[in-house]
Amino acid sequence: MSRERRPRAVSSLAGRLLAALTLVVVTGGVTAWLVAGAVGPSVFRAHMVQTGPPDEGGSLVHAEEAFRSASVFSLGVALGAALLASLAVSIFLTRRIGRSLGTLAAAAGAVAGGRLDSRVPEPGMGSEFDDLAAAFNTMAGRLEASDGLRRRLMADVAHELRTPVATLTAYVEGIEDGVLALSPETMAVLRGQTSRLTRLAQDLAAVTQAESSELELRTRRMDPGELVVNASDAAREAYVTKGVRLEEQVAAGLPAVAVDPDRMAQVLGNLLDNALRHTSRDGIVRIHAGAHHAGIVLSVEDSGEGISADHLAHVFERFYRADTARDRVHGGSGIGLAITKALVEAHGGSVGVHSEGSGRGATFLVFLPAAGSG
Ligand SMILES: Nc1ncnc2c1ncn2[C@@H]1O[C@H](COP(=O)(O)OP(=O)(O)O)[C@@H](O)[C@H]1O
Ligand SMILES: [Mg+2]
Repeated sequence: MSRERRPRAVSSLAGRLLAALTLVVVTGGVTAWLVAGAVGPSVFRAHMVQTGPPDEGGSLVHAEEAFRSASVFSLGVALGAALLASLAVSIFLTRRIGRSLGTLAAAAGAVAGGRLDSRVPEPGMGSEFDDLAAAFNTMAGRLEASDGLRRRLMADVAHELRTPVATLTAYVEGIEDGVLALSPETMAVLRGQTSRLTRLAQDLAAVTQAESSELELRTRRMDPGELVVNASDAAREAYVTKGVRLEEQVAAGLPAVAVDPDRMAQVLGNLLDNALRHTSRDGIVRIHAGAHHAGIVLSVEDSGEGISADHLAHVFERFYRADTARDRVHGGSGIGLAITKALVEAHGGSVGVHSEGSGRGATFLVFLPAAGSG
């Protein structure tokens, strides 16, 4: 219904604009006519009287008559021509305005109808119209981007669900058909797949929460050294078990930071967990706190597998795994670093990563601003 009304509203705007312009032109013409009629003859008579005394043949009357008909004719032709010219210009202008608005209305209707790639060309009719078109295009572009993100997320989630569900289904069918025995090995596979699904659900909830604007941070002033010690204490057990050395290093005189201790534990826990997973026995992982511009940098450096340049740019993306087959076996869903990044950004910080390439270790960096003096 609204879609039918829109073009009518636009054409009536053009119509009203044309009527207003016509009224202006007609008013101008009538005024010019009246003023010329009132002023012209008296000015003419005054000039005639100045030229000398009137002669008998009533030549003044003749002259006035001649003046009147000449001016009526010339004024009439001039006003008529002016009227036509102004009407032509008015029609041209109102059509252009009407057409631009019509294009915009059609594009807005298309976006509302789900065609998010609709854009309008710049009308070239002054900055207001151009700004309107640019604002519309920006809006449509944002909608399109977030729609694309939503689709990709859905596809990723579906993809993540497919493998464990397919494995579970195959095993359950095998057991039902008596092809598979419910042995400890079968149970281990089933358990592995259900825990993978559980972890996926938890990761999804966590990343959604971390990336939402409502993420609540209970910040307090903390010493960077405290963050490092807390994180390595929490991870030590797993490191000792695997036989990877964990070293802490804290530079002197670092400024305090305003952070949520639990979220920071999650951030550093993710990095230490990844570093451990990608470093083999007898390797070394260093967690370090240092100064960086007006704030601090926390780094987790490992001597492990490293990351090749083409993967490096993507590791913070959701569901990204540098080595899909191997990381699946390792049990990662590729969301940990997306959560890490979102949490650090919620603290006003940023993340980074370096690696010299495969087999040469990786260093993950977390930059945080110094706490305000308050
Ligand atoms: N320290 C590291 N060394 C080598 N590769 C890493 C390291 N940390 C992360 N990665 C790569 O980045 C990917 C994304 O990491 P993450 O988001 O934590 O997902 P997950 O750990 O669930 O696989 C990992 O799958 C892995 O390929
Ligand atoms: Mg991880």
